[in-house]
Amino acid sequence: MLKVAKRQFRHPICWPARAATATLGAPPSGQAVLPWPFLLRGGKPYQADIRDFARRIVVGFTLDSHQVAQVREALLSTDSDRLIELVSCISLGWPPPESALLALPLTEELGWTKPGQPAFTDTGMLAADSIREYRLWLDRDRKLHGEDHSPLLRPESYAGLEVLEPGSGFGCNLLSLQATALRAVGIEPVAIYEQFTEILATREGLNPPEIIVADAESMPVGDASFDVVLCYSAHQYMDVRRAFVEFSRVLRPGGQLQLIGGTRDDRSPMRIGNFRQLRSDWLTTINTVAYERFGRRLLTPKGLSRTTAPVYPRLRYIDVWLKAAGLHTRQDLRRRIGTDTLTVAEKK
Ligand SMILES: C[S@@+](CC[C@H](N)C(=O)[O-])C[C@H]1O[C@@H](n2cnc3c(N)ncnc32)[C@H](O)[C@@H]1O
Repeated sequence: MLKVAKRQFRHPICWPARAATATLGAPPSGQAVLPWPFLLRGGKPYQADIRDFARRIVVGFTLDSHQVAQVREALLSTDSDRLIELVSCISLGWPPPESALLALPLTEELGWTKPGQPAFTDTGMLAADSIREYRLWLDRDRKLHGEDHSPLLRPESYAGLEVLEPGSGFGCNLLSLQATALRAVGIEPVAIYEQFTEILATREGLNPPEIIVADAESMPVGDASFDVVLCYSAHQYMDVRRAFVEFSRVLRPGGQLQLIGGTRDDRSPMRIGNFRQLRSDWLTTINTVAYERFGRRLLTPKGLSRTTAPVYPRLRYIDVWLKAAGLHTRQDLRRRIGTDTLTVAEKK
């Protein structure tokens, strides 16, 4: 986690600006405050809540308690659909409908969009990740991704089981699992996503799932403590080999890893598109080959999210790494799920 914080605070120019964004607003009464005269908003000094400030240094980029209250109010209000629609459309690059554009003043007030334009600020970009995941989850009728493709991914298959989801984001899969799994816990390194978990679960009338802010490569959970590790569209952002060793460690004997994501076997290396897309495809291909051969990415663009340098290793590498981690791939259970592949591996 400190590594994450360090990465986000690396640039001296960005630091004051980001620190300012993270500490805006009057702290709720009764909380300890510290004057930070060098933090300016619109040219005026303001006070920062020391607890929020300390939390930010420990866990990385987060909203302060005032911002969380604002977001909660906005997402639980009766016209929150408009806000969700606008943020999702901007994030997915879709033209927002007229009605959604009415939420623009609100996104600006929340500090998510730049003045007068539907373009995200840093905070907005991170907020949009959770809101987009939530909106897509609503679009698929609150189902687990892929449950129509493999019986293993249907809710009833998790009945009575303890499930761990590394790379859970704000936790949409955990919400889907709540009805059947005995316990469903997320691991997510981006602390701001976890701040949306309780709000979005409340919006759904569900209990907020437990999400531990940590990296999948070093999860603070006990050995042999879960029946299933479900990793959906997340291993490509991890140090895959180290993550597999961790997945194996936390699985009980007889437990199952369900790994869903893209692979270079079936991804077209270059999409037809604009320069940015081509550049990103090149980068991904170079990183994937480097990771397959040398176990590391060569190029890691900076960003506040943890999804800037994906790798899509071929299945034969995945199987070798799983075996080395003590997990046996069930070739008979391998399935295509849209553009992804489901790999199931068992711990002996
Ligand atoms: C595309 S999202 C998938 C979220 C969720 N699994 C779903 O299916 O909607 C990938 C997630 O993996 C997380 N992630 C990236 N690197 C990670 C790491 N090293 N350990 C754990 N999670 C990571 C990202 O922060 C992000 O939330």
